[in-house]
Amino acid sequence: MATLLVTGGAGYIGSHTAVALLQAGHEVVSLDNYANSSPRALERVQRIAARPLTAVEGDVRDAALLARLFSQHAFDGVVHFAALKAVGESVARPLAYYENNVGGTLSLLHAMQAAGVRRLVFSSSATVYGAPDALPITEQAPIRVTNPYGATKAMVEQVLRDLCAAEPEWSVVSLRYFNPIGAHPSGEIGEDPHDIPNNLFPFICQVAAGRRERLSVWGNDWPTADGTGVRDYLHVVDLAAGHLRAFEYARRHTGFEAINLGTGRGVSVLQLVHAFEAATGQRIPYRFAARRPGDIAACWADPSAAERLLGWRAQLSIEQACADGWRWQRQNPNGYRD
Ligand code: NAD
Ligand code: WQD
Repeated sequence: MATLLVTGGAGYIGSHTAVALLQAGHEVVSLDNYANSSPRALERVQRIAARPLTAVEGDVRDAALLARLFSQHAFDGVVHFAALKAVGESVARPLAYYENNVGGTLSLLHAMQAAGVRRLVFSSSATVYGAPDALPITEQAPIRVTNPYGATKAMVEQVLRDLCAAEPEWSVVSLRYFNPIGAHPSGEIGEDPHDIPNNLFPFICQVAAGRRERLSVWGNDWPTADGTGVRDYLHVVDLAAGHLRAFEYARRHTGFEAINLGTGRGVSVLQLVHAFEAATGQRIPYRFAARRPGDIAACWADPSAAERLLGWRAQLSIEQACADGWRWQRQNPNGYRD
């Protein structure tokens, strides 16, 4: 049993992880400014887990608030999700991204240091690898950022590596997620994009729901088996379980470790569309369109470090993720809004 601070706990991945932490018997304090989420997600997290958590509304950049939180609770560790995550927006508003993602993490690390809490699980991203030289991608692949969002993740990892080198009692696991999709099987929590979804899976869900006419498939001339982009899609419930394992690992080890979380399997856009159709019985009309600037052909994980170090591997299929994502979409056509 541990007490954890979860920043960004109301968000897509944070809410699923909060369920996993509560179900494992841990106490959870969520800190979220609801910039991209709703406090309703946390009500539902408590309903699913049938256990309470503490929900604090506030910003990770608020040093006074953090000092207060760290004095009120004896945290055993922090899981840090809070960040802005839209690649295109990061190109248009780089300062907001550096401020929120890098500045926010520095503010959190100062508060942790002052309180003597030195165990952290950080949300990094496979985007730090950019266009890979080889597949599957191992943690040793070069870091190659291609946009400000990715740069914030690479910078934070550098800060964390330097901090662990300077203060060996720190224990930091940086989880490099590949492409999380799906929702909790209850249909109570899921991804709730506020504008037109940037990502493939929520876009497919909205086409299925009739909110969008058809999917644009960005490129059918990629050097892949069917010409469409290939990614490593993992069920968000598997991803949530990975955080629990990472925290347990951080309790037993010190130092900095970056670990991929993915399935190890590449799936094309068309394969995902067909899996969705098969799992849900919904038809997804699509048309081919030009490649999206900044996209890469293919990207999938070598997840063997996660298995070796964390004892974690993805268990759920993309068909399961499609069925669960569709249940969430159907039950909540407007997400957490009325
Ligand atoms: P999300 O937007 O649903 O969750 C982020 C949460 O952080 C939101 O609830 C938001 O309101 C909150 N937040 C943002 N800035 C804050 C601040 N300054 N103070 C307090 N709260 C703040 O996104 P998500 O998909 O759940 O992503 C969680 C983390 O995982 C992010 O760090 C993201 O960069 C990373 N990540 C996501 C993906 C993905 O495809 N979803 C992939 C790789 C990495
Ligand atoms: C997947 C595939 C598209 C939408 C992004 C971020 C990354 C990480 C995860 C946070 C690609 C194709 C998409 C559409 C399409 N996030 N596509 N039509 O680009 O792999 O990764 O989310 O860390 O940083 O860059 O995911 O879901 O946007 O795209 O054809 O309407 O679907 O071209 O091949 P991506 P995605």
